[in-house]
Amino acid sequence: MFYRIMRSFLFMLNPEKAHDFSIKQLKLTQGTILDFIYRQRVQNRPVQVMGLTFPNSVGLAAGLDKNGECIDAFGAMGFGHIEVGTVTPVAQPGNESPRMFRVLESEGIINRMGFNNEGVENLIKNVQDSNFKGVIGINIGKNLSTAVEQGKDDYLLCMDKVYPYADYIAVNISSPNTPGLRSLQYGEALDELLDVLKTRQSELQVKYNKYVPIALKVAPDLSDQEIVSIAASLLKYKIDGLIATNTTLDREMVQGMSHAGEAGGLSGRPLQNKSTAVIAKFAAQLKGEIPIIGVGGIDNVIAAKEKIQAGASLVQIYSGFIYNGPQLVKNIVNNI
Ligand SMILES: Cc1cc2nc3c(=O)[nH]c(=O)nc-3n(C[C@H](O)[C@H](O)[C@H](O)COP(=O)(O)O)c2cc1C
Repeated sequence: MFYRIMRSFLFMLNPEKAHDFSIKQLKLTQGTILDFIYRQRVQNRPVQVMGLTFPNSVGLAAGLDKNGECIDAFGAMGFGHIEVGTVTPVAQPGNESPRMFRVLESEGIINRMGFNNEGVENLIKNVQDSNFKGVIGINIGKNLSTAVEQGKDDYLLCMDKVYPYADYIAVNISSPNTPGLRSLQYGEALDELLDVLKTRQSELQVKYNKYVPIALKVAPDLSDQEIVSIAASLLKYKIDGLIATNTTLDREMVQGMSHAGEAGGLSGRPLQNKSTAVIAKFAAQLKGEIPIIGVGGIDNVIAAKEKIQAGASLVQIYSGFIYNGPQLVKNIVNNI
């Protein structure tokens, strides 16, 4: 009820203003008595995934709290895990505004943010300052100014920095808004990246006496052949988890709707079935050896259950949260 009123105000603002305003309010109120506005009790339903204990199976997807400014606020809403980032080695402004659009008719979002963030050092400080008792994933990417061929250096740089502070590390090679990034999902480029990440993980494990799992985040726009090939690489390099999926470039589901022609990645309900299908295809290849975190268009309990039935061990939400508010987290946690 409260979120419905809040939403009618927020949706009068342009999407990015609404986002920035909300982040600011959450940042101001988290950890104070004012957090009663969004704090809610959810059932404790622990799940073991990637060797970690998650308090429940619902997480906040990457990109909503890019700088990790509101970890405690999202924790108070009942999320079992929070994936902050995507963060890059140095701060960058992202693409020009406007760069975020609501597709109201289908409860979708199109964004071409381009990894706007305050850099890895700032994110680490925020993670250190948080009191969240759940699982914190740190999602890493490359700076726009770094050539794709040198991309792995940015991932390693971020990994070195976040390793002591992350419960898991998400490697984002699937944003459609950094030119060439998605090419890292294929063939030799992927193998090379996974190889160096696993080697560095082993070194950091010795250094910090702590094993931090690595999950690869992929796009939904993959052919069956590409899925088979990525799954084989994940198994070969013993990657700890798969996050499926990021946003789609496909516009078939939103043809004729508002902003459908905007460049960028589409998320929310129009992505729901596509991402579920991709999860099912990966699950058939991975055969339970590598857990899947399912994300894409989850906006109710049934949609979350479909992701689990397709083979996901955990789910994440972004767009569904924008359209439905914190109540969605509670509904899914308690009923999945
Ligand atoms: C405005 C916006 C920004 C996003 N930024 C990121 C990001 O920085 N890194 C990332 O891995 N995914 C990012 N995503 C993708 C989401 O994490 C998620 O994979 C995708 O939106 C599908 O889930 P949904 O349908 O629940 O939104 C972003 C999504 C949106 C809508």
